[in-house]
Amino acid sequence: MLVEMLNILENFELKRPEKGLAWSPETMHLAIEAMRRAYRDRAEFLGDPDFAKIPPGLITKDYARKLADGIDRARATPSESLAGDIKLAGESESTTHFSVVDASGMAVSNTYTLEYSFGSRVVVRGAGFLLNNEMGDFNQTPGRTDRQGDVGTAPNVIAPGKRMLSSQCPAFVAKDGKLLLVTGSPGGRAIINTTLCNILQVVDFGQPVYRAVSAPRFHQGWFPDKVRFEGLSDPLYAGVVEKLEQMGHTFDRGAARQGDAHSIWIDPAGGKLHGAADRRLGGKAAGY
Ligand code: DON
Repeated sequence: MLVEMLNILENFELKRPEKGLAWSPETMHLAIEAMRRAYRDRAEFLGDPDFAKIPPGLITKDYARKLADGIDRARATPSESLAGDIKLAGESESTTHFSVVDASGMAVSNTYTLEYSFGSRVVVRGAGFLLNNEMGDFNQTPGRTDRQGDVGTAPNVIAPGKRMLSSQCPAFVAKDGKLLLVTGSPGGRAIINTTLCNILQVVDFGQPVYRAVSAPRFHQGWFPDKVRFEGLSDPLYAGVVEKLEQMGHTFDRGAARQGDAHSIWIDPAGGKLHGAADRRLGGKAAGY
């Protein structure tokens, strides 16, 4: 891998850093792209050579040139686009939300969670379902609430027979007694804020549901005293971010995507159903 990366980087003139810094962004970008490609190849080819057939071509200059040609100097390559024959798992291991409305207007807003993967890995004999693994949803250390986000207050400390606090928030919104929106999301403590963002987009700003679902979301959870915002690095929102910073908000710069909120909007004029799949984790809207 080291030789593969060095071979790739040989195809570029690496920009020296500004004085006092170790790296220029241009060099970091190219090195990151070389790393991304070499680690992708590691996944496809590398293992005990008694078992895995390791193509000698991986460390040729020709191969490196081909990989170098695929590097865009101005933009990061999504790792997913390099997967090729490596099949990526289609489903997240964690909480899932789906929304359903039937022809007679009956609706289900379903968020379910085992926490991660197979939950506690215990199946209820004869019943065919798994038990969850949600002990982490209890407040961790009684009496200790810190600025990093650990909460130790009494209502949710562990006690015999007590259920842990959940952030799951499957939601119906009704207008004049009629169902308007079915929504909800996975995403741990941010679930409730994801649902809030969706409702604000649809109800307050009259956005079509597919726009509401794809709008960048934000999350503030008391502590850490930071805001996560999906639009943080989108130039479109640079002004919004700047203004909020001037107002004293601090952004979590390491934040990633927030939730996965498959939702349905029911047009009050006529009752037509509009399903919106969330592109963040994949999924589909279907009508039949
Ligand atoms: O019930 C809860 O609040 C958590 N067990 C949800 C966990 C979750 O959403 C993880 N997935 N994204």
